[in-house]
Amino acid sequence: MGTQLAVLERFIRELRSIWSTNADNQSRMEKAKGALERFVMEPSLKAHSADWPSTEGHKNLLLYVDPDFDFVINAVVRVPGRKGSIHDHADAWVLYGLLDGTESLERYDRIDDGSKEGYAEVKLSSVTTGTQGKVDLVPPRAIHAEQGGDNRSVAIIVRSQKLGQGTVLQGRYDPAARTRTEGYGPTQVPFELMA
Ligand SMILES: [Fe+2]
Repeated sequence: MGTQLAVLERFIRELRSIWSTNADNQSRMEKAKGALERFVMEPSLKAHSADWPSTEGHKNLLLYVDPDFDFVINAVVRVPGRKGSIHDHADAWVLYGLLDGTESLERYDRIDDGSKEGYAEVKLSSVTTGTQGKVDLVPPRAIHAEQGGDNRSVAIIVRSQKLGQGTVLQGRYDPAARTRTEGYGPTQVPFELMA
């Protein structure tokens, strides 16, 4: 029997203390940002992630689900040159932290008034490219896309609630077709980080 990676255990303890002392998800996530920034700089975590499997095919590694507060820790492992699609996370607050490689986070503005069912005009408003240690806070309904870099990349995600099949429907946007559709988030693949 192995034991859970020590840095993950410590990170979970930190998050649980933040969740238990703050009542709303916005302040929890703002405080968790610093904890995630430190977590993705841990050399033992980065070394461990070299062996994690690819999450191609709309998957997430599911590292942890909190039994009391419902927050979730996920990981994504992107292949070089991965093209991300434009989406939102519905009601969920999400922290997205880069552990290895380079990725770009694109943010989009919604241009139309949202009154026409299935119709959406979105416009790229900013692109930030990051490497290990870069953490983005993505509020509910913010429209964005994560783009892979030239090499394999790995990110750690903290979500205020579990997303994926059978949870909440998230928005997906096609700027060329000017459409908005809804679908479930990535398939959750349970994955334990053992020392
Ligand atoms: Fe996202």
